[in-house]
Order: sequence, then structure tokens, then C-alpha cells
Amino acid sequence: MTRNIIIDTDPGQDDAVAILLALSSPEVNVLGITAVAGNVPLALTQKNARIVCELAGKPETLVFAGCDAPLARPLVTAEHVHGKTGLDGPQLAPPTMPLQDQHAVDWMIDTLKAAPDNLITLCTLGPLTNIATALTRAPEIKSAIAEIVLMGGGYFEGGNITPVAEFNIYVDPEAADIVFKSGLKLTVMPLDVTHKALTTKPRVDAFRAMGTEVGRMTAEWTDFFERFDKEKYGSEGAPLHDPTVIAYLIRPELFSGRHINVEIETTSDLTLGMTVADWWGVSGREPNCMFMGDIDADGFFDLLAERLATL
Ligand code: BDR
Ligand code: CA
Repeated sequence: MTRNIIIDTDPGQDDAVAILLALSSPEVNVLGITAVAGNVPLALTQKNARIVCELAGKPETLVFAGCDAPLARPLVTAEHVHGKTGLDGPQLAPPTMPLQDQHAVDWMIDTLKAAPDNLITLCTLGPLTNIATALTRAPEIKSAIAEIVLMGGGYFEGGNITPVAEFNIYVDPEAADIVFKSGLKLTVMPLDVTHKALTTKPRVDAFRAMGTEVGRMTAEWTDFFERFDKEKYGSEGAPLHDPTVIAYLIRPELFSGRHINVEIETTSDLTLGMTVADWWGVSGREPNCMFMGDIDADGFFDLLAERLATL
């Protein structure tokens, strides 16, 4: 069965690889890509999304620009990881494909309102500002949403932007809170999973060995953002976070986790953006998401190599 998806994203090299995986996989039909401010400001994330679509040979993909700041806070960005452009690494030509005129949130609302029940899966790879704005403005869109699969949070791994908070949740905790309380089917790829999906040398060499533009760019993007994480964690590669979301739609058997309650910390200065995950079921709170804990990392990188080679 082909799943109709909307990718909400803040590219980001790992977002870029996620988009490439989606655009090369027949199991998913990308209805559109909605950009949000996150790793870098919106003007760059919407541009980067178009660069990636063109690289994939899919300039007909609809790309929309959404919210340029979190719901209630100033934007925090991550140039220290992704570089000034968000896609630092290889030389990139500016995109020639158009940005759609409509605001991403308006398009999302219109599209979901017009869709039959449970037709569309939202794949979120950045802060949840666009999604929370759409859900707040038009709660009736929920019926069309089959599931939200998101990269965000962490529990056993702690955080990456603060000791306890993961970047996507930390940037807009109020938006994350709305999504986690939405009652929608939610599948979460936290750092507990993505920190097991490391870009080791053989895995990056496999991208380079494709001998294609996509393979070369993917290897160069990986080389760039690896530097930061390798130094920080002393690991043999960097976590490739966002493609886990798309891989889950294609090969769910690569992942395992628990259906648990997760609450978002929105008030404490010390633990802002923490995903308080009741992994051990001690709170008595109702489960609200599938919180993944493990990944078959070799299977995940095999899937990426197989699909990206077709572009
Ligand atoms: C997440 O934050 C961003 O920097 C990455 O693109 C990913 O979505 C990881 O914490
Ligand atoms: Ca991202």
C-alpha cells in the first residue's frame, strides 16, 4: 500500500537524506513538503528543500514555506551542527524550481480538509510549529491524519541541545506539547534510536561508491555534519536522525519500541523541551505514542543505499 505523506522539515543534511529516501521510494507518495524554521531560518530551509527535490530529479514536488518562528519563543538554530546554509558540505547551486505561493499551514489545512479519513501521514523532521499551528487553527483536519511519525525527543540518551532536551522539541516545546496531546496516532523516533544509526566509514563509502551525484552529495553532507558529532560523542560516525522517519514507513520491522505516555516539559528553565517518557509505566498516565527504542542499523543503511542508488 502506498502511503500519502506530507514531509514537514527544516533541512538540514539529515533532513535532506530523508527527503531523498522518500522521493526514491514507491511505498510513499509525497503530496508536498512544508518547510519550517529550525536548523536554520525559514528563508534557508525552504530553499534547501527545493535544492534537494531538484537533486532527486523531482522539481515538480510542491514545496511550501511555513512558520518562521516558534509559537511562543525566539527561534534557536543549529548552524554549529549544519553550517551557515544548513546544507554545508558540497557546493550547491541555487534552486530553479518554484516555491509555492500559499503558506504551508494554509496548504496543509486545505489538503487535509479535502482528504478522506485517515488518508495522510505527516512526517515531521523539525520543530513542530507548522503542525501545531494547523491543528490549533483547524482541529477538524485530525480526521484525515492517519498518523504522525516524528523525529524528536530522547529518553535514555538524554538530549543533544541541552542535557535533557532534543533539538526539534526544544526549539518549540509548546508546539510539541500540542502534538503529543492531540490524541492522534503518534510514532516517535527519539535520540535513543537515531544515536544507533551512525554514519560509519563503510556506510558513507557505500554512498560515495554509487558514483552518482546523489551518492556524492550524500557522502559530502555526511562528512560535514559528522565532524561535530564525532568530536562530541567520540563515536565512529554521526547519528543520521531524520531518515529514520521515512524508513519506518517503508520497513517498520527495522524498529522496535513501546506504546507509552510521553509528556513535554514546557515550563522549567532547567529541563525545557524534555520528553518525559514513561518507559517503565510508572506514572499511570495514558499511553499517547509509540516511542521507539531500537533500530536494525545495518538494515536501515542498506535501505538507504538501495533507494538512493535509484536516483
Ligand atoms: C534533529 O535536529 C536537527 O538538527 C536534525 O535535523 C534532526 O531533525 C536531531 O536532534
Ligand atoms: Ca531536521
